[in-house]
Amino acid sequence: MRQVLVTGGAGFMGSDFVKYLLAHYPDTQVVVYDALTYAGRKENLAEVADHPRYHFVHGNICDLAKVRETLERYAIEVIVNFAAETHVDRSILDPDAFVKTDVYGVYVLCEAAKALKIQRLHHISTDEVYGPIPQGSFKETDGFRPTSPYAASKAGGELLAQSYAITYGLPVTITRGVNTYGPYQYPEKAIPLFITNAIDDLPLPLYGDGMQVRDRLYVTDHSRAVDTVLQRGQVGEVYNIAANQEKTNIEVARMIVEALGKPDSLIQFVTDRPAHDVRYALDTEKLRALGWEPQTSFAEGFSRTIQWYRERQDWWRPIKSGEYRDYYRRQYEARGAKPSEPAGG
Ligand code: DAU
Repeated sequence: MRQVLVTGGAGFMGSDFVKYLLAHYPDTQVVVYDALTYAGRKENLAEVADHPRYHFVHGNICDLAKVRETLERYAIEVIVNFAAETHVDRSILDPDAFVKTDVYGVYVLCEAAKALKIQRLHHISTDEVYGPIPQGSFKETDGFRPTSPYAASKAGGELLAQSYAITYGLPVTITRGVNTYGPYQYPEKAIPLFITNAIDDLPLPLYGDGMQVRDRLYVTDHSRAVDTVLQRGQVGEVYNIAANQEKTNIEVARMIVEALGKPDSLIQFVTDRPAHDVRYALDTEKLRALGWEPQTSFAEGFSRTIQWYRERQDWWRPIKSGEYRDYYRRQYEARGAKPSEPAGG
């Protein structure tokens, strides 16, 4: 694996993966291809900006000509696709961008990879394609029942990639990960939103009764899992990635206010997200059989993350005063943000 293209490499998970590759593979050239939308940020890659084996290309995965040109220019062997619209609430407000990037964009990558005989196209998918599971856990062979435009778009893109593997023999691998958290996560997602609000003594808006369950995986464990599949996974296969560290949203919100020495009263129950999935959970036997297991406990990853947001206010304050405000105003108008009582009391 010498020449790797990381699409969406300026995003939260993509940028962690880029740093991981540069640190672990001394012979690998890493080319980041990123549209630099609101969530893709060059600041996320500041620490590798001058690295001799790092290159940056500003481009959108929906642009076939640009993708092809980049693959040729850098003699790319492997593509890892992190590029995606990822935020469920935004997909409810504005599904258009999700269908474009998460479905059409994947189609473009498949076409380009096929035309240029790329050795591997690894696609980052999500546990949300399965839909909610109140008990037990999903295996890779379980069916799809996505509930949001985001999850449905990811399901569509993934199925398209699978079809290229079956129809054209494109060497595709896919991973479906659980909620991933850590430094550099855009503060629209629950954990960084809650931390940054709590630092500023602002309310932590908890949807519905706050009893929804998510499994939380530290970002570098996600990067290691993707690397494991690239190194030892079988072409044509799908692998679940999970930490098996389930927590309700209210537990996480309480941990955050406690860690920052803030009062519980900052936690406010607000109107629920439409079609809010109650729980996701994945079986990871297949990935563990390749030798991967998470190395970061929630306690450790959580305190590292809180520490990072405390120290890196230079990173998140400009974000929270920009486009972000407009997004929240639109969300408020669409859904209302009146605090409501938790269900059952
Ligand atoms: O499960 C994997 C998925 O995790 C990824 O595919 C998505 O890209 C990623 O956004 C994430 O989806 P979630 O919807 O689970 O993440 P989010 O951080 O938006 O929300 C986590 C939980 O917290 C969810 O149950 C909704 C709740 N929540 C979220 C926000 C933003 C709140 O209660 N209040 C909030 O303000």
